[in-house]
Amino acid sequence: MIDVFITEEEIRETVKNLGRKISEDYAEKEIFIIPVLKGSAIFASDLIRSITVPLALDFIEVSSYSGTESNGIVTFKKDINTNIAGKHILIVEDIVDTGRTLAVLKQNLMKRNPASFKVCSFLSKPSRREIEADIEYIGIEIEDKFVIGYGMDFDEKYRNLPYIGVIRE
Ligand code: IMP
Ligand code: MG
Repeated sequence: MIDVFITEEEIRETVKNLGRKISEDYAEKEIFIIPVLKGSAIFASDLIRSITVPLALDFIEVSSYSGTESNGIVTFKKDINTNIAGKHILIVEDIVDTGRTLAVLKQNLMKRNPASFKVCSFLSKPSRREIEADIEYIGIEIEDKFVIGYGMDFDEKYRNLPYIGVIRE
């Protein structure tokens, strides 16, 4: 059984607001959007269509989770194919949990001298943080719950749910 935790309508509203804020903030700069695969693919595809300013896109893939527990080791699976020096980077995440993935990503990408580095995450679990994470755009802050759907998986399943749910024990 899956309980609905965040409805499709709440998702739509949240994405629209994030897109509006981002469009205002980047009115004078071209954004380079980097969604972190695979979890953020669904959110990112909605988000970029709610952004009204010019943008470019490339994907990066990292992994740190198996089942519902992060093993703490972040592995790069796929790099971007673009030189990001001088570009205004916006990382797009599905959820920031311990903050480890983001810390490793930031450390790696900052070495390539972007003009700026910001993060947009659909969800954030602040009570789970192990490493401080600076997230400019947060959709919804949630309590310590393992969520699925809207791109997020449990053992690679449930990414296609149009809402965000919690698996009932
Ligand atoms: P962190 O490195 O602990 O911040 O974990 C970040 C990544 O773990 C996210 O980008 C997700 O892919 C995954 N993750 C964290 N919490 C959840 C969850 O509740 N459901 C599904 N995936 C999660
Ligand atoms: Mg992710």
